[in-house]
Amino acid sequence: MSIRIIITGGAGFIGSNLVRHVFDNTSYHIVVIDKLTYAGSTESIADLLESDRVELEQCDIADRAAMTRVFERCMPDYLINLAAETHVDRSIDDAESFMQSNIIGVYVLLELCRQRVRENPGFRAVHVSTDEVYGSLGTEGCFSETTPYAPNSPYAASKASADHLVRAWVKTYGTPVMVTNCSNNYGPRQYPEKLIPLMVLNALEAAELPVYGDGLQIRDWLYVEDHCHGILKVLHEGESGRHYNIGGNNEYTNIDIVKRLCTEVEKHCPAAGNKAMKKRGCSSYQNLITFVEDRPGHDRRYAIDASRIRNELGWSPVHDMADGIAKTVAWYIQHPDWCQAVTKGRYARQRLGIVG
Ligand SMILES: NC(=O)c1ccc[n+]([C@@H]2O[C@H](COP(=O)([O-])OP(=O)(O)OC[C@H]3O[C@@H](n4cnc5c(N)ncnc54)[C@H](O)[C@@H]3O)[C@@H](O)[C@H]2O)c1
Repeated sequence: MSIRIIITGGAGFIGSNLVRHVFDNTSYHIVVIDKLTYAGSTESIADLLESDRVELEQCDIADRAAMTRVFERCMPDYLINLAAETHVDRSIDDAESFMQSNIIGVYVLLELCRQRVRENPGFRAVHVSTDEVYGSLGTEGCFSETTPYAPNSPYAASKASADHLVRAWVKTYGTPVMVTNCSNNYGPRQYPEKLIPLMVLNALEAAELPVYGDGLQIRDWLYVEDHCHGILKVLHEGESGRHYNIGGNNEYTNIDIVKRLCTEVEKHCPAAGNKAMKKRGCSSYQNLITFVEDRPGHDRRYAIDASRIRNELGWSPVHDMADGIAKTVAWYIQHPDWCQAVTKGRYARQRLGIVG
């Protein structure tokens, strides 16, 4: 019988890219579990669902009875958890679903993993976390796996809580779980509320490009496929209870990223030939940049020291920023149907996360 893997959150951005990566690089049978919130969409894995190697269960990871049934039916060898509420701005507006999915959901999964390992001693799991648990950096230094946790947003606090639960289940029950803490991802199929797709789609429509605060916040960007490669490596070769920071050593300010996106959009769709730009009387995408009120509690700088996963597991990213941004912008321009399908009736690119 083939190896069976559960990927939770597999209809979201990183999850759908991971399902693709696992499909292409293993012979595993993949069970995607996803609540299909506004951020999850069957469109992101529709082609893969045509294969009898991939199936989808619409289920909330915090629903213990439903998740127990799924585990009993699937009898997984592996689990990778990406199911989460993920948008910091939404966590500022209403943190309830973040607490439910990101904390209670992880508790439920850990209990099921604890039980599963009794039936299948080879069972292992990866919990996908974020670098945001470490808080904000000054101009120097990087987050390592020993950096103390200091989350600053409700989202980051919920992820930090989940990481502590994993630690406790490893220490107390010996449940075999690894944790990855990754920096900002970018690539195809990211929900258009996030910086990169939002800027590309707004630019194409000649809408304002809203940059928070002074735009000098620094993020360490990683192409999503490199993250997926790292997650799979940790699943196969990682040590239970160990954290692995994953990052591209790729620091850019938000304003730099937005300007790069403008340049890339210009290559595909010159402003001079874009009717919406003409109508607005705008000759350059960069003229659409508008500085808006900053996000409350906005972390200034994230940077990852990924030497543990590089040295111990031999992982390294293969995409550089120029290559990754070019592929990403091309993907959004070539997939207007996906962009429309995932946002229709759910999100109109409005500003979120202002403390009233
Ligand atoms: N995007 C990034 O830059 C980044 C960086 C580091 C870590 N992460 C982590 O990676 C994971 C995936 O992030 P993403 O960017 O793909 O997020 P996403 O918002 O695009 O996708 C999340 C998916 O989880 C599903 N989901 C939400 N709550 C659920 C629940 N209770 N039960 C089942 N499914 C549920 C959603 O429907 C969606 O398909 C998250 O845990 C996030 O914290 C993301």
